[in-house]
Amino acid sequence: MRQSRKQEHLENYLLSSHKSSNLFDEIFIGHKSITDKKFEDVDTSIEFLGKRISFPFMINAVTGGNDYANEINKDLARIANELNIPMAVGSQKVALEEKETRESFEIVREMNPDGLIISNLGALCTLEEAKEAVEMLNSNAIQLHLNLAQELVMPEGDRDFTEMKESIESVVNGLDIPVILKEVGTGISKDVGNDLYNLGVRYIDCAGKGGSNFVEIEDLRDPGLDASELYDWGIPSALSLLEVLSLKKDDLFVISSGGIRTSTEIAKSLVVGANLCAGSGEIINYLIRGGYNLALDYVKNLRHKFQIIMMLLDVSKVEDLKKVDYKVVGRLRELIG
Ligand SMILES: Cc1cc2nc3c(=O)[nH]c(=O)nc-3n(C[C@H](O)[C@H](O)[C@H](O)COP(=O)(O)O)c2cc1C
Repeated sequence: MRQSRKQEHLENYLLSSHKSSNLFDEIFIGHKSITDKKFEDVDTSIEFLGKRISFPFMINAVTGGNDYANEINKDLARIANELNIPMAVGSQKVALEEKETRESFEIVREMNPDGLIISNLGALCTLEEAKEAVEMLNSNAIQLHLNLAQELVMPEGDRDFTEMKESIESVVNGLDIPVILKEVGTGISKDVGNDLYNLGVRYIDCAGKGGSNFVEIEDLRDPGLDASELYDWGIPSALSLLEVLSLKKDDLFVISSGGIRTSTEIAKSLVVGANLCAGSGEIINYLIRGGYNLALDYVKNLRHKFQIIMMLLDVSKVEDLKKVDYKVVGRLRELIG
């Protein structure tokens, strides 16, 4: 069941067509016409989980659990290895329940023995499950996903979330590696960010609305329920990012994601205060429709264009992006109040 669902998620992602804005076009950053820098001295690298990565971007959770997922994970891991960026795997629940599917996750560590690999499970998992998922890949961190909208639209989805906060707390306290709480495309609000912080969470991936749409992906699996009115449910990614950043917690690492497709969106995220960006859907588009080389080039070009943008902002270190002026305009400005 889980194996075929993973396959359907990928297929339905490619079929999904609903478009909504992540509102990053309502963050405005300027342009500097003079500089004293050389392009080759503009350093896009940052430190993450104790390693230097080549630019502030990671491949976010997508898949695992069947032969097709094995091929996808292999290619994504090769890209992560070649470009020295982190990669999260899709939910490992299937590998905990059906041991024969482990290979499709383990391939990621095989392809990238020294890279940053991030495990993934749902936020209702137990500490034992989280430990097993981490051990499977010798992971550097684990993501716990919050996917309420997806579960509720899914006919066989979870309905009982009464233990959610206890589960999160137990994994955060019980593991000695970072635990990242992430959404899957409906965004984290300021209040939820604050609740997570109070549970001990120090890494949040906003995964807002404006990119992959899990309500639609699930809806396409179930002709019995027309959930199209919920395709626009959620907090646009730029708003979610600004809300979580407005908590102003110095020890909170904030990842901007949800429809991040361009270097401009990465730069804007860093300018407003994000520590890292992440993307899934667009890389999958390139990989499945265009193949390995096009997907590799897509991410390589993201990095190159990010370097160009840093130069156009007269910044030679990523941390200095936080000093760049920006303006929030339009609907996003109204929404942040
Ligand atoms: C086909 C597909 C499968 C996904 N599977 C998972 C998953 O297993 N676990 C998870 O945390 N997120 C999963 N996601 C969500 C992504 O990690 C990401 O949070 C979300 O797609 C928003 O980013 P994007 O707009 O860049 O795709 C999946 C996304 C896609 C498109």
